[in-house]
Amino acid sequence: MATDPHALFDAWFGEAKAAEPNDPEAMALATVDEIGRPSTRMVLLKGHDGRGFVFYTNSESRKGEELASNSWAALLFHWKSLRRQVRIEGAVVPVGAAEADAYFATRSRDSQLGAWASDQSRPLATRELFDARYEELKAEYEGRDVPRPPHWWGYRLVAGRIEFWSDRPHRLHERRLFTVERDGSWTEGLLYP
Ligand SMILES: Cc1cc2nc3c(=O)[nH]c(=O)nc-3n(C[C@H](O)[C@H](O)[C@H](O)COP(=O)(O)O)c2cc1C
Repeated sequence: MATDPHALFDAWFGEAKAAEPNDPEAMALATVDEIGRPSTRMVLLKGHDGRGFVFYTNSESRKGEELASNSWAALLFHWKSLRRQVRIEGAVVPVGAAEADAYFATRSRDSQLGAWASDQSRPLATRELFDARYEELKAEYEGRDVPRPPHWWGYRLVAGRIEFWSDRPHRLHERRLFTVERDGSWTEGLLYP
């Protein structure tokens, strides 16, 4: 029976949290636009289980719009201290509203206000405009909870392919590839480095 790649990911992620000086949960997210042109940016992993890998963002951002037109995406972790990378590919589905609400409620008040203040990926005339908007929102929500903005969403990448790469001497690296079968089970194999 093949190893469960989600359990293997948890083990590697645990080691990364112990080893990386900064942001072990940082991952590159690749999306494509409506004609297949790729773009990447970093996001933070905010949840992981057998269902997939969750991150949060503005659904009206460039990545949000690209995911709305093409839900196929890829994630990449590079844990430099461990000399390991994990490549994850699959389709992205929005998390439920209750899940997004629950995570939004755990964010700092400043981050919650920031989510309202930022038209992520849109042109910004001056930094002062953004700061002023933030201050206005701070005053507006004084003394009450900040609700989740309707455009602020979580996305879950449901993996169909996960590759674990680890550095070996003389560039004889190890590559373990897991691919999902029609019945949802995982097949494990190796790739030449
Ligand atoms: C380490 C790191 C973590 C980040 N995490 C997030 C995140 O979780 N969500 C997010 O929307 N942007 C995050 N960003 C900012 C994005 O990289 C990006 O600038 C922003 O989301 C706009 O991307 P877009 O215009 O392609 O939509 C992070 C940046 C860095 C460097």
